[in-house]
Amino acid sequence: MNNLLSLLLIFAFALSLNAQVRLEYAIVIHGGAGNISPTFISPEREKEITDKLSEALETGIGILELGGSGMDVVEKVIRILEDSPLFNAGKGAVFNHAGKNEMDASIMDGKTLNAGGVTGVGDIKNPISAARMVMEKSPHVLMMGAGASEFANANGAEIVDSGYFHTEKRWNDLQKQLANDKLEKYGTVGCVVLDKDGNLAAGTSSGGMTNKRWGRIGDVPIIGAGNYANNNSCAVSCTGHGEFFIRYTVAHDISALMQYKGLSVEEAAYEVVHNKLKPAGGSGGVICVDKHGNISMEFNSYGMMRAWANSKGEMGVKVFD
Ligand code: GLY
Repeated sequence: MNNLLSLLLIFAFALSLNAQVRLEYAIVIHGGAGNISPTFISPEREKEITDKLSEALETGIGILELGGSGMDVVEKVIRILEDSPLFNAGKGAVFNHAGKNEMDASIMDGKTLNAGGVTGVGDIKNPISAARMVMEKSPHVLMMGAGASEFANANGAEIVDSGYFHTEKRWNDLQKQLANDKLEKYGTVGCVVLDKDGNLAAGTSSGGMTNKRWGRIGDVPIIGAGNYANNNSCAVSCTGHGEFFIRYTVAHDISALMQYKGLSVEEAAYEVVHNKLKPAGGSGGVICVDKHGNISMEFNSYGMMRAWANSKGEMGVKVFD
């Protein structure tokens, strides 16, 4: 009898160690990682970025407070960033070597493990919405180029003239990279969410890299590389040098370290970003939220534009390290 009681006590103690109270909701947003320091970003531009991230964050909080789904939050938040020329996604997408915009996006539902993505699209105003259409309105996970555009158009996505994506800054960036025969590696937007129903969702959208070869596909539309969500572990959105994020299956690796090795979200994100990616030469960062609402924002580049909030009232917006 005494033995049974001791066993029960040990069991209860172990449970209490493991049990974490789940927050009602949590949200993290990123606007890209890279050479983000006061040397490269003026105070005026920093304010514009902070204001836009705050607008996106407030929109997400508003939906979450009302009990909206993580999937809705991810899509709405990313649309705000895609509509801004400040970030490398949608309106602010960078140019490839041929002087064209080829955008990637994906979205994933942690409850069902359903996912959708588009790659190499040049005329869809909001690629994240097209990604969600692929997930919800097709039997597929990933669609490319003209086929993805035709599908998105048929399902009500806004199609725009390619001139819509022409911004002076991105064009000048391309001229610089062409002159130096270099690739500019950074930029992407993303959002991860835990909603009031306890569901996780992740979305990522990008113009890719300035001066990339046309037809190049980055990590963003590849589930498990630049984007992943699983209610058993966490939701992850990545930003950085896509080729490394693909080869190291970064988003899924973070989830797997949590699920199979029992690491916390902070430990898993740190391990992948600093101990795996960095020694390999892969620069960038990740945003993550776990099933309890714990968040992580790890990067091994100079900076990462980011914003976060949770139902305890904790929140913040940061551009630099
Ligand atoms: N992470 C964005 C890209 O490499 O395309």
